[in-house]
Amino acid sequence: MCGIVGVLGFGDKKEELIGSLKLLEYRGYDSSGIAVIKDGRLFLAKKKGKIKAMERLVAKTDLHSLVGIGHTRWATHGQPSDVNAHPHIDCKGNFAVVHNGIIENYLDLKEELVRKGHKFRSQTDTEVIAHLVEEYYDGDLFSTLKRVLEGLKGSFAVCLISVKEPNKIVGARKSSPLVVGLTDDKVIFASDITPILRFTKQVVFLEDGDIVEARDGGYIRIENHGIERSFETCEVEWDISQARRCGHPHFMLKEIHEQPSIVKKLLSLHMKEDRVVFPELQGLDVQKIRKIYMVGCGTAYHAGLVGKYIIERVAKVGVEIDVASEWRYRDLVLEPDSVCVAISQSGETADTLAAVERFRKEGIKVVAVCNVVGSSLTRMADAVILTHAGLEISVASTKAYLAQLVIMYLLGFYLAQNRGIDVSNLMNRFVDIPSAINEVIERKAELQALARKHHNFGSFLYLGRNLDYPTALEGALKLKEISYIPAEGYPAGEMKHGPIALIDEYRAVICIATDSPLYEKMYSNIEEIKARRGKIIVLATLGNQEIGKEFNDVVFLPKIDEIFSPILNIVPLQLFAYYVAVIRGCDVDQPRNLAKSVTVE
Ligand code: G6P
Repeated sequence: MCGIVGVLGFGDKKEELIGSLKLLEYRGYDSSGIAVIKDGRLFLAKKKGKIKAMERLVAKTDLHSLVGIGHTRWATHGQPSDVNAHPHIDCKGNFAVVHNGIIENYLDLKEELVRKGHKFRSQTDTEVIAHLVEEYYDGDLFSTLKRVLEGLKGSFAVCLISVKEPNKIVGARKSSPLVVGLTDDKVIFASDITPILRFTKQVVFLEDGDIVEARDGGYIRIENHGIERSFETCEVEWDISQARRCGHPHFMLKEIHEQPSIVKKLLSLHMKEDRVVFPELQGLDVQKIRKIYMVGCGTAYHAGLVGKYIIERVAKVGVEIDVASEWRYRDLVLEPDSVCVAISQSGETADTLAAVERFRKEGIKVVAVCNVVGSSLTRMADAVILTHAGLEISVASTKAYLAQLVIMYLLGFYLAQNRGIDVSNLMNRFVDIPSAINEVIERKAELQALARKHHNFGSFLYLGRNLDYPTALEGALKLKEISYIPAEGYPAGEMKHGPIALIDEYRAVICIATDSPLYEKMYSNIEEIKARRGKIIVLATLGNQEIGKEFNDVVFLPKIDEIFSPILNIVPLQLFAYYVAVIRGCDVDQPRNLAKSVTVE
């Protein structure tokens, strides 16, 4: 969480830094700040609130200069406030630092520094870095930072500037992301590639342990564990236009609209004639895989849950799944011939990376299913399947989830194929899914009307069985994330073991009852809710007259093969959550307390 940037090269630092921070705002948005060296002095602006608040502070200041750094914060140590916002400086204001991550031993370090006479202004862990740099400064920022980092425990990505060396930015990463962009006359540091795309598509993905010095004129040098290393620039395929709303009121709605084309793209990449192809998996002995350990957090975990149902159903390969924050501390009882499949939009989620590290230590190969090329997860994994959803800006994930689902299906089909199971029929029906999603999106006004009718309910229960159970979880997650209404997803079969006690006329219950072999059982559950006066919304398949006659609030979805229902059924639930949040006046793209990329435990 938190986003950091640094720009070296003459230009309007106000525009360069603030414009870049806005693209990182999804990583944290409780306060922000910039530090610029101008005319040999350090200029600092920090403000609680969204970046716009800080932007107003500097509106009238000319900040054309050579170096500057910036930060958008998601508070860990010290509540959101002007003083706790980054950048942080040393006692004399010679050094400024921005940091993403957590310095675990900051209290000990701070105590020591205070004993030596350093004066702290904030409650943050980060400020110790500025004072340590002041303490150890040896006339060279690079070697000083190296020395400082040796004493830090925890995770960090940092950028440091100084009035003593006003033509430099030094940066470093350990367990938190940092990417460097290179143009002819500028070096840009950022937590991810998004802001860099404003300047260039040429990036260097830093390795864990890298320390970087960038000097005026586009010169950079990278050291890892004391050894200078060569590096390569990669050209990234994302486009900065993806960071615009393109006429949509929110990124979330735009991203929901992008889903059909993403599904199409993934199918065309991985379905060739009547085979599913994954050249990415060539290094694995796929036929031998007997067990998959699935890892993810939040929405990515839900995608993995769908993956479990699909892979077990079509390929008959056992899948064990848990959230990464549990995997990382569980006693692993591992079976031979197993692989770990780690799912993550950002590829930077701390728990997911830690869980993956454990599997690697046990000698288990890791397949990353990830949206961000060059991210930490893709660099740790033995094989990488990209989800190609493009830049996702809304904190609540939609298109990245759908892309993860598609990969789960394709993986299931691929494993089945490798075991001699014929999946060509299913593959043929997969190609109908993008247009079915489109149909649902085109009927968004119905979901909007439904949201208008239900936005005042105090809580929601989402129920589904089998393949629809993960959809119930994900639908509930979307609603609570962006509208702050308590919402719970449950397997419908468990209803009688607790949730039924909650049902009365004040409880809205979303029942996923599209065509499936378990439809009759789901229908009985719906009747049970009705008998207890719960307010029912049903997702059903077009042509289901029984439901249509009995219930007023039914969302009819196009008829598709039942196995694909998780891909289609989540779309109306995304739209419903979106409209409820809009009607309630919530900040849809940047919900309170959340961050898109959870880079601390
Ligand atoms: C955060 C985001 C979620 C996301 C989860 C996992 O909670 O708000 O949208 O699903 O992290 O993130 P990842 O990048 O690993 O998929």
